[in-house]
Amino acid sequence: METIINKLSNVLGEAFKSCGYDAKYGKVTVSNRPDLCQFQCNGAMIGAKQFQKAPFVVANEVVNSLNKEIFEKVEVVNPGFINITLKDEFIVSFIKEMANDKDLGLIKIANGENVVIDYGGPNVAKPLHVGHLRSAIIGEAVKRLTSALGYNAIGDIHLGDWGLQMGLIITEYAESHPDCVYFNDKYTGEYPKLEITLDELNEIYPKASARSKVDEEYMARAQKATFDLQKGKPGYTAFWKEILKISVGDLKKSYEKLNVNFEYWYGESDSEKYIPDMLDKFIKDGFAYESEGALVIDVEKPEDKAPMPPVIVRKSNGSQIYATTDLATIVQRVQDFNPKMMLYFTDNRQGLHFEQVFRAARKTKIVSDDVVLEWNGFGTMNGKDGKPYKTRDGGVMKLQDLIDTVCSAALEKMQEAKTGLELSEEEKKETALKVGIAALKFGDLINFRAKDYIFDLDKFMSFEGKTGPYLLYTMVRLKSILRKAEEKDFKIGGIGLPKTDVERDLMLKLLTINESFVQAFNDKAPSVICESAYQIAALANRFYYENKILSEEDEVRRGNLLALSEYVLKVLKLHMDVLAIDVPERM
Ligand code: ARG
Repeated sequence: METIINKLSNVLGEAFKSCGYDAKYGKVTVSNRPDLCQFQCNGAMIGAKQFQKAPFVVANEVVNSLNKEIFEKVEVVNPGFINITLKDEFIVSFIKEMANDKDLGLIKIANGENVVIDYGGPNVAKPLHVGHLRSAIIGEAVKRLTSALGYNAIGDIHLGDWGLQMGLIITEYAESHPDCVYFNDKYTGEYPKLEITLDELNEIYPKASARSKVDEEYMARAQKATFDLQKGKPGYTAFWKEILKISVGDLKKSYEKLNVNFEYWYGESDSEKYIPDMLDKFIKDGFAYESEGALVIDVEKPEDKAPMPPVIVRKSNGSQIYATTDLATIVQRVQDFNPKMMLYFTDNRQGLHFEQVFRAARKTKIVSDDVVLEWNGFGTMNGKDGKPYKTRDGGVMKLQDLIDTVCSAALEKMQEAKTGLELSEEEKKETALKVGIAALKFGDLINFRAKDYIFDLDKFMSFEGKTGPYLLYTMVRLKSILRKAEEKDFKIGGIGLPKTDVERDLMLKLLTINESFVQAFNDKAPSVICESAYQIAALANRFYYENKILSEEDEVRRGNLLALSEYVLKVLKLHMDVLAIDVPERM
């Protein structure tokens, strides 16, 4: 299979070539004037300088030499556009080929090369809050998109489990539990299980963090504890392992609700074993040097317009920091996965950090030049006041509370709209969970990743417009048509010639899913997948309204309509699978 754009570009390219021009000018795009044509080629204008002829003349030569077999109409319009309309027979044969393809016509752009996707990035012992939503769901969508396009995508959560926050937790807990064996240096026995509830655990960090900001001596103790933990002090290590266990158990639950799954639950701490050799090599190769007691690497470039501070890889007190673990993690990933790309998803504020880390990685050659290192920032979820989303009393909202809010709103909405009446109470709750998560995720993902957006529950929950519930509703309806057809023993035929404009428009939209998926991947933009899903769903709804599928008397025509419905549903499902949004059977 090839994409429709490639197919058409080849046909046009041949025509350019036969007129003595480079075939590359035959590049075809989807029309930006769908009222005039379906596709267009602007090559005659793009190459005007080289051709030394009026674009209009070139376009006419090309069109005259074109094999018109698959075209309904090919027209040259001033100043040299080539407007293209396909024959319905060709559209249908192409769509049929896609519908019969095991990947629904989605063409792979890779051969199973490894791509590491670093997303999620929560910090141990700090509850997930709304700020963690975006990294998780954007990263998961990009990961699934990456695999759908033929790479072997490897998701790594990269837990924050090694920095000062761990030292703060140790210091705080040790102070309130001085008799605890973890903190007794003379203790040599086996360490017991840590008896602490999640709620207790979640209270420790905020308290410690606040105190460290006003109490220097306390801060110094926390830094010392961080250092000792990193050096492997047995009691601290045992305590830390217990905290990690409790925290990860809780994280898994929240991520599961969002359909977010990681292949690896590595943390910053897993990079520890690569650090000593890495730092030695940095020093030996002359990249790292001591500055005010710290070990640093210069990463400035002459062309820099903004200040580019050196990367600190070891603090003056001997501790490693964020950049150190990120560099060592690159070493680990190269060793374990030999990836073609490493993609990172964090909020927009970490841009400088990653720029520094990537420059240091290139300079020290811990990764070869052909491996892509790419940081993708995302914006903030704001409240209606345009400021980062808060709870009613002004606190940071826990992710779990946000999920609960959205799901109860979904249940209310379903009751209001009187949908899902045939469902049992239990099924209704399950469905509301799916609708709520869909509303939340789609409402987020439809916004271009890098931009801030406003969390507007009413808008996200609406059954109309670019929303999760609208998509689910459309798909549930298609499912219901296909279910009823099966009950009535109606045969699903093959896709047939379009008899209405909406059918043709729907087919044309389906023809270009490859372009949407590849663009979404290039820009690491799940919003492109959302937009494509919405466009298809909107046409599918019109298609459903304008054609009485189940009451169609003509058996052949009915079979055609059912076949198109079936393919549309599968393609929508493909989109939702990438977005990691579950679709209920009924709602
Ligand atoms: N734990 C970090 C934070 O909360 C995010 C980690 C992102 N990934 C990375 N490789 N640095 O800011």
